[in-house]
Amino acid sequence: MASRNYSYFADIPYSIIREISEKVIEINKSLPEDRKVIDLSLGQNFLGDPSVIIQNIKWLEDKSGVGPILYEPSLGPVEVRESIAKVFYPYFYSFSDDLIDASNVMITDGAFGAVRNALGAIFRPGDILVIDRVTFRYFLHALIAMGRVMPNITPYIVPSDEETGFIARADQVIEFLERLKNQYPDKNIVYYTQFGFNPTGCYRDSRDLKKITNYIEEEKNIFLINDIAYHLVRWGSSDIPLASILAEDGAGIVDADSLSKPFGLMGARVGALITRDRELFKRAARIQQYMIVSPNKLAVDVWRVVSQREILPEITNYLNNLIRMIRNNYEFFVNELKELGLTVCKEGQGTIYAFIKINKDASIFWKELLENAKVAVVPATAFTDPHDIVGKKYIRVTISVNRDLLEESVLRIKNYLQGSRILVK
Ligand SMILES: Cc1ncc(COP(=O)(O)O)c(C=O)c1O
Repeated sequence: MASRNYSYFADIPYSIIREISEKVIEINKSLPEDRKVIDLSLGQNFLGDPSVIIQNIKWLEDKSGVGPILYEPSLGPVEVRESIAKVFYPYFYSFSDDLIDASNVMITDGAFGAVRNALGAIFRPGDILVIDRVTFRYFLHALIAMGRVMPNITPYIVPSDEETGFIARADQVIEFLERLKNQYPDKNIVYYTQFGFNPTGCYRDSRDLKKITNYIEEEKNIFLINDIAYHLVRWGSSDIPLASILAEDGAGIVDADSLSKPFGLMGARVGALITRDRELFKRAARIQQYMIVSPNKLAVDVWRVVSQREILPEITNYLNNLIRMIRNNYEFFVNELKELGLTVCKEGQGTIYAFIKINKDASIFWKELLENAKVAVVPATAFTDPHDIVGKKYIRVTISVNRDLLEESVLRIKNYLQGSRILVK
């Protein structure tokens, strides 16, 4: 039979992280309860509890029938977008109340949806994507899936090193972008970066973010997509994560937020795109309309609840407890592994991951750990260029799990490492 031709835009690798976690589900089917693999691979916050929000969404509890679940307005209801701008963000961060309103906010399907909409609005075939050396790389593949770049794209990487937790300083970023701009004056250059980084848990300084933002907003063909998915699980500081707020006028600047991690709502797809660039907003809105039609009702009502002034003190209590648990887990895990002679990337400041340096090839080590210790982690190759040495030196471990499970995984890792003698000391 003649073979069919499929789109080459779909010739993209399956996500390494997803592949590992789906492999674990498969392996666990045939293992007894006490020998099941502990899955510390996918970026899930198992300690998150959305009840604090869900109990305020009446239709979820209405046993007499929920009625039809209707389409939401394509960007989410205006009054909810208005309260996200006027109540939610100003509650956590102080800034001038005339900077953003409903017209600057759209409710999206997670931070993923926000970044996708922004890329869809900006990126033309042939344009340039700039990313950090160690970062969440899903969006590279999203661009290919959208047909904006060919599957063999190589993104431009801003150099950075271990000492800064692989976060490039503002002057490094600006110099890098300036050079690209001079080389490619007719292309759009999009810098996708994060405020709190996955996988390192390190945070960019708000002053550095402001410097980068102020440079980019003055350059008509450079854009910033600032992913702030982790800002609410921070313990390091509470400075402003939103580039749109740090900006002078915000041209070319987009923030992508998510309630996935702080509220354990990964599967509900709750995000927001924020920008003060009206043209960009208009185009991102069209991308959203033709990609997902409208945000789902649960996502809209989650935002509606968390943006109510009366509930925010309770939400803050919840977040403080959550952060305490996550931080305890992080410190416990990191200290235990340090005792084994392993080192940790510059201390995390608010993260659901530990980024651990190992003295073995990570692209082999994760498989050995899975097979022998029955603990699933992700090699840093999932977060770097294929030829970057850093990818082979680190693993990412999700630490936002029940404490007993984390203790059990430490025990398994210890037993395996001590048995296999790959310790440094
Ligand atoms: C940096 C970063 N951005 C975006 C996402 C996707 O988040 P969401 O569930 O909000 O789409 C993740 C998920 O792990 C992430 O780590």
